[in-house]
Amino acid sequence: MAHLVAPSLLAADFLHLGRDVEMVNNSLADWFHVDVMDGHFVPNISFGFSIIKQIKSIATKPLDVHLMIANPDQYIGEFRKCGADNLTVHYETCAHLHKTVHSIKESGMKAGVVINPHNPVSLLSDIVADVDLVLIMSVNPGFGGQEFIPRTLDRVRELKDLLIRKNSKALIEVDGGVDTGNAKALLAAGVDVLVAGSTVFGAEDPLNTIKTLKEIQIK
Ligand code: DX5
Ligand code: ZN
Repeated sequence: MAHLVAPSLLAADFLHLGRDVEMVNNSLADWFHVDVMDGHFVPNISFGFSIIKQIKSIATKPLDVHLMIANPDQYIGEFRKCGADNLTVHYETCAHLHKTVHSIKESGMKAGVVINPHNPVSLLSDIVADVDLVLIMSVNPGFGGQEFIPRTLDRVRELKDLLIRKNSKALIEVDGGVDTGNAKALLAAGVDVLVAGSTVFGAEDPLNTIKTLKEIQIK
């Protein structure tokens, strides 16, 4: 499978959000990455349902919603209603992760699970067969524009091995500090989905930056 590129709207210009969504619509990107932060699980607050609903009303590509919130279970139905296609929850926020993952699927979305940089990949060994997506944080969540943590490459390789061992078809997504310099190594390690916020929206030519990320070949 060719890899996917998911620009993170956290780095978009919120005063021109419609323009930035259209830019992604017209690009080679595959998904919109949508970061929801609640000021509890992470020390930052981003945006919620009404903004996501408006993004959905003009987006021509799936919404990949990354929840950085406490008690995600409480809001699964609401995120479905406002247009999420993928719903990814943090391992650290779910006391009954297996149940959460199945509720997400039952409500008609793809289910993802994400781990922070300090958490071992092996924590996921009994859930990878149930999920559509595993997101490895390559920064501590909460803010865009942080520096990529190099150990992520080993973590991706470890996850790839785990998925093979557990016969899981889950996609591997990486989020935080991804740029045109480290993307190739990430893809070579086994990443399927590159999330990029400031690399895309901070670029002089975002369309061309998406194209560069999309056209990286590893062989
Ligand atoms: C961080 C978010 C990321 C963020 C990435 O907590 O989950 O999706 O937008 O931003 P960059 O690509 O700028 O590191
Ligand atoms: Zn994210």
